[in-house]
Order: sequence, then C-alpha cells, then structure tokens
Amino acid sequence: MPRYYRYLGDLLDEGVERISSNELSEKMKVTASQIRQDLNNFGGFGQQGYGYNVQYLYDEIGKILGLEEQHNIIVIGAGNLGQALANYSKFQKLGFMIIGLFDINPALKGESQSGVPIMMLDELEDFASKHKIDIAAFTMPKYTADTIANRLVGLGIRAIWNFAHLDLDLVDKNVVVENVHLSDSLMQLSYNMLQSQD
Ligand code: NAI
Repeated sequence: MPRYYRYLGDLLDEGVERISSNELSEKMKVTASQIRQDLNNFGGFGQQGYGYNVQYLYDEIGKILGLEEQHNIIVIGAGNLGQALANYSKFQKLGFMIIGLFDINPALKGESQSGVPIMMLDELEDFASKHKIDIAAFTMPKYTADTIANRLVGLGIRAIWNFAHLDLDLVDKNVVVENVHLSDSLMQLSYNMLQSQD
C-alpha cells in the first residue's frame, strides 16, 4: 500500500487524473493482474473501462494507511541520523511532523534543525505534557533504547520508529514498533548480488 500511495502521489503531481491497471502496471513494474488483486483486497476502487481515479484511489489508500490525521513525531538522539530525519522535509507532506529532537549532549541544547528544537532528555516529560506525541523515532545508541522506550510508554506514546539495532523489550505489548535497519537491506542486496552470479 505505501508503494501504491507513493506512485499515485507522483501521478497527481504530474496532473494525471485517471489510470488503467495496465498503465499503472508499466509504471510500477508489477503485473496488471497483481494490481487488480491488490486493490480488490481493499474494496476495488476501479471501474470497468474507466480505470482508476487517481485522486480517489490516493485518498482511499491514505485512509487505509491512517494518513488522514497528522502524526507528531519526536526523535530521541539528535546525532547524524536524528538530524537527517529532521531535515527531510518530505515526511511533512505525508502528515508526519517532527516536533522535537531530544539528546543528552549539552552542546546541542538550544540548537535546532530545520526549525525543530533540540532539547535535553530530561525535558521530555514536560514537553510531553504540553504536546500530543504519536510516534518516537529512536536514533540514539542501542544500549539506552529499552529504558527510554518504557519511559515513553509511561508518557502514553504508542508507536516507536526504531532505528537502534536491537529488538525492543517493551513492558506494554500494545506499543507498535517498526524496525528500520538499512544495514539489513544492504546485506539483502549483497545476498541478491551473490545469487545473481550463480
Ligand atoms: P551519532 O553518534 O551521530 O548520534 C547519536 C546521538 O545520540 C548523539 O547525539 C548522542 O549524544 C545521543 N545520545 C546518546 N545517548 C542518548 C540518550 N540516552 N538519549 C538521547 N540521546 C542520546 O550516531 P548516528 O550515526 O546518528 O546513529 C544513531 C543510532 O542509529 C545508532 O544506534 C546507530 O547504530 C543507529 N543507526 C541505524 C541505522 C539503521 O538503518 N537502522 C542507520 C544508521 C544508524
């Protein structure tokens, strides 16, 4: 679904109003029947002989992905990766607003990245009492992650976008965690390169 959403967003930017499954198939490099099957799973959205209304499909997939509402994010660890996330403006277009960076390095206190303030970790509780926080991104060293995760759960945060290289041990199992490991992706690429040589 995120991939469809991304492609449909590009089509909208190009001013495309409707598209057939065959055209979408060419763009996305998946078979037209796969596209029909995928989209039928989510209620169809297409019309025989017309194809898909791009805006409608984009909006419906957005609803499925929960993108109708804005999501506020805080980032724990304002180093290379944390700052890179704060400086990537396209998340905002999807409704993901990074509203604060937290760190323990006093040299960063009072700094900001693309207008996002860097605060000290001991300011977290105060910040959480004043702002709605939906998601915490973890871009700090992994040995601190479990403690901070459970502290955040105590503040009512229900989702963690985890870049720290460990599987979080959460007290509250209802918390949603999405792990993102670029090195896993690189190792997969390396493996695929080996396979393609056979
Ligand atoms: P970095 O050293 O530039 O930044 C880490 C920041 O975390 C520093 O500013 C440090 O002061 C801060 N920090 C340390 N303890 C903290 C705590 N208890 N609370 C809040 N902040 C704290 O490192 P970089 O390159 O930004 O990497 C950050 C983390 O992300 C590392 O755990 C690294 O392994 C991971 N990483 C994960 C990737 C992935 O694909 N999953 C890719 C790159 C990095």
